[in-house]
Amino acid sequence: MTGTTNPGLEGVLVADTRISDVDGERGKLVIAGADVEQLAASTSFEGAVQRVLDAGAGATAVIDAAPATLGAARAAAWELLPRLGDALDHADGMDALRAALGHLRGGAGEAAAAIAAIGAAPVFVAAWSRRRSGLPPVAPEPALGHAGDYLRMMLGRDGTQASVRALDAYLVTVIDHAMSASTFTARVIASTHSDLISAVIGAVGALKGPLHGGAPGPVLDMLDAIGAPAHAEAWLLGELAAGRRIPGMGHRVYRVRDPRAAVLEQAVRPLHSPRLELARAVEQAAAKILRERKPDRPLAANVEFFTAVLLDAVGLPREQFAPTFAVSRIAGWSAHVIEQRRTGRMIRPASHYIGDAA
Ligand code: COA
Repeated sequence: MTGTTNPGLEGVLVADTRISDVDGERGKLVIAGADVEQLAASTSFEGAVQRVLDAGAGATAVIDAAPATLGAARAAAWELLPRLGDALDHADGMDALRAALGHLRGGAGEAAAAIAAIGAAPVFVAAWSRRRSGLPPVAPEPALGHAGDYLRMMLGRDGTQASVRALDAYLVTVIDHAMSASTFTARVIASTHSDLISAVIGAVGALKGPLHGGAPGPVLDMLDAIGAPAHAEAWLLGELAAGRRIPGMGHRVYRVRDPRAAVLEQAVRPLHSPRLELARAVEQAAAKILRERKPDRPLAANVEFFTAVLLDAVGLPREQFAPTFAVSRIAGWSAHVIEQRRTGRMIRPASHYIGDAA
């Protein structure tokens, strides 16, 4: 075909959705009718899951995402662990999650598959993390909340109330974000009427990339390398001089600070992380330098900046940051798969041929 290509598909509207909306100019994120700030302050992850799945399923369908239902899904995934073979042997947690999710059976319909996948993700990620450290997996406790149980399965003991609350706020905050690359991937797969598990596995692959969900680990590496606020400017200038990007800064859609950065900065405060002050100083230095370098392209902190500080403060190792993002976003992907199957059309764009003429 001929015409002008738009390789990043910026501004192309590919779906009508009730699940979430991003206003990149004003820095506003609405999740199924609620501001992200309000949702993170007032709802547990289970409440947010119910909200996005209901939005995806539409008014007529009934989906049960109650805490007990998700607890039972975690318990079912635990039963599956002995049958995962070498799926969790991967060095990378996203590879392990992808391989382990492949063992789930779709079951009775998309809603059941969604609940199975959302329940399984924390069980698989926690088991992978402990295995890497040579530790036995810890069985889920279905009566606990999703965030508290994830932390417990990972640490081998209950998290403090403050860390469970912070992790819960994190899981709510990142549950959905309009047509992100991984969500688009999930919707493309769903649009062919493939199954929900295949769609979320594809989305894990998209989220793994450092331009999308792979940034919070590098943010922590950056904070470690800088060490003290006084060293921030020189370090950042060195990175830019070497042609590298500053992790946790910039976004495809936001032209102001990502609203999720403020929510997470607030959520991490009760944990008294020694890294919080440093992170604030590095963010300010990076924003100033990038403003001078790229006056025409606003580049502010994105969600990954304070994700790194928060997940570190609740006790997660940095290799687990991207898989933990997936533990939350798998709910958003599932909602989009359900919505796409219900309302969408097969997504099949076109390409501009620049090869030799026949
Ligand atoms: N550090 C330094 N420069 C950056 C930058 C960053 N973090 N993010 C963007 N830029 C620069 C680019 O080099 C580019 O400059 P150029 O026009 O001179 O080449 C310009 O800003 C526009 O970048 P572009 O690649 O068009 O933006 P995008 O919309 O494709 O990128 C991101 C969005 C998120 C991929 C990008 O900002 C980035 O790589 N950030 C770091 C990784 C990250 O935090 N990812 C998590 C996202 S939630």
